[in-house]
Amino acid sequence: MCGIVAYIGTKNALKVLIKGLRRLEYRGYDSSGIALIEEGLRVFKKQGKVKDLVREIGDIKLRGTIGIGHTRWATHGIPNDVNSHPHVSKNSKISIVHNGIIENYQAIKTDLELRGYTFKSDTDTEVVVCLIEDIQKNSQLQIGDAVRVALSKIEGAYALVVLSEDQPDRLIAARKGSPMVLGIGEGEYFIASDASPIIEYTDKVIYLNDEEITVITREGYEIRNLQDVPQLPYIQQLDLELEAIEKAGYDHFMLKEIFEQPQSIADAMRGRLAIDAHKLVLGGIQKHAEQLVEAKKIVIIACGTSWHAGLVAEYLFEDLCRIPVEVEYASEFRYRNPVIEKGDMIIAISQSGETADTLAAIELAKSKGTIILGVVNSVGSSISRITHEGAYLHTGPEIGVASTKAFTGQLTVLIMIALRVAIRKQTISLPAYQDLLKALHQIPNKIKRVLEKNDQIKEISASIKEVPNALYLGRGYNFPVALEGALKLKEISYIHAEGYPAAEMKHGPIALVDENMPVIIIATRDNSYDKIVSNIQEIKARKGIVIAVVTEGDLLISKMADFIIEVPDTPECLMPLLSVIPLQLLSYHIALLRGCNVDQPRNLAKSVTVE
Ligand code: G6P
Repeated sequence: MCGIVAYIGTKNALKVLIKGLRRLEYRGYDSSGIALIEEGLRVFKKQGKVKDLVREIGDIKLRGTIGIGHTRWATHGIPNDVNSHPHVSKNSKISIVHNGIIENYQAIKTDLELRGYTFKSDTDTEVVVCLIEDIQKNSQLQIGDAVRVALSKIEGAYALVVLSEDQPDRLIAARKGSPMVLGIGEGEYFIASDASPIIEYTDKVIYLNDEEITVITREGYEIRNLQDVPQLPYIQQLDLELEAIEKAGYDHFMLKEIFEQPQSIADAMRGRLAIDAHKLVLGGIQKHAEQLVEAKKIVIIACGTSWHAGLVAEYLFEDLCRIPVEVEYASEFRYRNPVIEKGDMIIAISQSGETADTLAAIELAKSKGTIILGVVNSVGSSISRITHEGAYLHTGPEIGVASTKAFTGQLTVLIMIALRVAIRKQTISLPAYQDLLKALHQIPNKIKRVLEKNDQIKEISASIKEVPNALYLGRGYNFPVALEGALKLKEISYIHAEGYPAAEMKHGPIALVDENMPVIIIATRDNSYDKIVSNIQEIKARKGIVIAVVTEGDLLISKMADFIIEVPDTPECLMPLLSVIPLQLLSYHIALLRGCNVDQPRNLAKSVTVE
C-alpha cells in the first residue's frame, strides 16, 4: 500500500528513484511522483503508472543526487495529480512522501487553517508537511528536529521521508506501523518500503523499528527514537537475488510465480523435510513446539488469500492433530472481544508480513499473553519481528498482486507444522506420517504435471471469458480452494465470482445456475467424491457449464462435465496444493483474454498497510 523510495549519494537520483518506483509499483499504482534537489526543490507527480510520470518528466535534464519518490494507493482523496505525492509545504521548501494514514489529520488541519495555511490536496500527508513547516518556523528547528516534533503530534501509521531545500544534504525518514528499510552503500544510502529497490546496489540493510527516525547525509546516518534517544542499529545482510524480482522472460509476474511453484514449494521444504530419514525439522518454531502440541485451541488470523490458507489449516489441525481451530479475519478479530484462554495458540499468516489488520490483531492477542507463531514470506517484515517464533515460507518475493506461490508456500509450511504436531501427539500413526511426508515430497513434481495443462486451460478460458459470473465449488479440504479460485478470478478479471461448499449450493447459489453460468467444481477423488458427483448432476440438470478439476484417470466425471482438468492423485490433505494450480491458471488466462492488467489489477495493492 504505497511505495516509498529515497536516495542520497553520488548517482543520478532520478534514475535510482524511477527504477525503484517501478519495482515498488505493485504496492499501489494510482499515481507516482518524485522530488529532488536541483538548484532548489523540484517536484514531478502524475496520476497513473510510473510510465506516465516518466512521460511527464520527458526530456527535462535532472542531475540531482538526492531525492524522494512515491507510488500511491489512494486512501485520502481520489487518485489525481494534486493528491499525488510528494506533497510540498506552504513555503514550497519541504517535501514529503508518506505511506500510512494519519488519524488526527483533520484536527491538525483545522488548527493550521486557523493560522493561515491553505491546502491544495485532500490528503492527510499535505497536513503533515505543513505541520513540519509550522514547527520549524515557530521553533527555529533543524529539519530533523522539526520532523521529530511533528511526529509527536501525529496519531496513526506512517512511513515517511522528508526532503528540505534549506538542508539539501540530508533525508529524514521515520516509521510507525508502515514498513521501511534503510540500505547502506559506499557513500550512498537508500530508503524504501521494501528491499526490492535496494538490492542491486547493496545487500546491507537496516529494518527501521516503529517510532524510529533517522537523519541521513552522505557521510552517515543516525537513528533515534521519538524521545530523541540514539538507537543501536542492527545491520542485516540481505539474502535476495535480483533475478527473484524480475520477470525472467515471462509476460507477467503472476505467470512466472505460478510456474515457480514446483521450485518455491521445494524451497519451503528445503532443510526441513529430510525424506530419506523420514524427518521433519522446523527450527523456527522449536521453542514453542510443545505449547503447540498441548494447545487447547489454535486461532488463525490472516487476511485475503492468507486467510484461505488458514481455512485449509483448520481442516489440517483438526483432522491430523485433533486440535480445535478458529480461523479469523484479522480485521474482525482486532475489533471484537475475542475469547483467548490460557493454553490457546495463535498462528498469524501473511505473505507480506506488513498487513495492518494482521499486525493489529497480533498486538491484541499479545496483550492477552498469548504465544503467536508467524507463517510469513517476507523476511525481516514487521509480522516476522513481532511474533514470538515462526516459519518463513522461503518462496521468494511475490510481486504479482494476486497471490499464487505464497498461497502454496503457506500451505506447505502449515502442513509441515501440522504433521510435526500430529506425530508428536500421536494423533496419526508412524506409517501414516511417513506416507504423508513422502507424498509431500512428491508435490513439486506433481505440480509440474499440472502446469503441463496450461494450454488446455487457456482453451477452456477462451470459452468462458465473456461470462459475468462464475461459481466455484469444493468440499472438505477443497472448499477453501474454491474460495481462493473465486477470489483469483474476481481480483484480476473483474468477473463476479463466488466460492461455496458444494453442498451449500442448494441453499441459494443454485438459483443462479443456467446455461450461462460456469461452475468450476473441484471434484478430486476423496471421501466426498460421490456427493460431489451428485452436485455435478444437479448443476447439469440446470444446464450449467461444468468445469471440473478431477483426479487423473477419472472416467465418470469426464462423461458429465463440459471440461475437465486432471491433477495427479495425492492424499486428501495435500490436494489443495495441486487443485489450486488450474484455478490460478484459469483466472490468469481469462483476465488476459479480457485485456486486464494481470499484475496490477484495479483498486488493489499487494501489501495492505492501512486499515
Ligand atoms: C492483499 C493482497 C492479497 C493478500 C492480502 C493479505 O489484499 O492483494 O494477495 O492475500 O492482502 O496480505 P498478506 O500479505 O497479509 O498475506
